[in-house]
Amino acid sequence: MTINRHTTLSTKDDKMLYHGALPRPAPGTGIKVNFITREGETVTVEANDGESLLDIARANDLDVEGACEASLACSTCHLILDDDSFDKLEEPSDEENDMLDLAFGLSDTSRLGCQVLMTKDLEGLTAKIPSATRNMYVDGAKPKHH
Ligand code: FES
Repeated sequence: MTINRHTTLSTKDDKMLYHGALPRPAPGTGIKVNFITREGETVTVEANDGESLLDIARANDLDVEGACEASLACSTCHLILDDDSFDKLEEPSDEENDMLDLAFGLSDTSRLGCQVLMTKDLEGLTAKIPSATRNMYVDGAKPKHH
């Protein structure tokens, strides 16, 4: 099953799938994703079809926070994508755009990692982890529009 923003998660199994905790793909069988860490290191990992960039990062101990657990109430899962992958994605929802407006270091190819679900078509996607995030829950930053 491929899960995207339009998928109705009706069964308990669907919801468990969506909320991560998926077994990692066997080496060589997953969809390759490159993360560029805050230190500038490129780390290539493998993802399951339908898994969010946030869940993939967490499963591989990469430093992407996701403070609101994918409920579109923060921007701490902000990632900067490569141009080609960004262009393959559907437009962000209004809710995602509202949160992106609050993200530190917003760029033309910024997305929220919890909203981008991997598909085979996105094989080789590169996601840069921004040098900082703005977490309103912790540092009390006021929303600012860019
Ligand atoms: Fe909060 Fe993605 S984890 S919007």
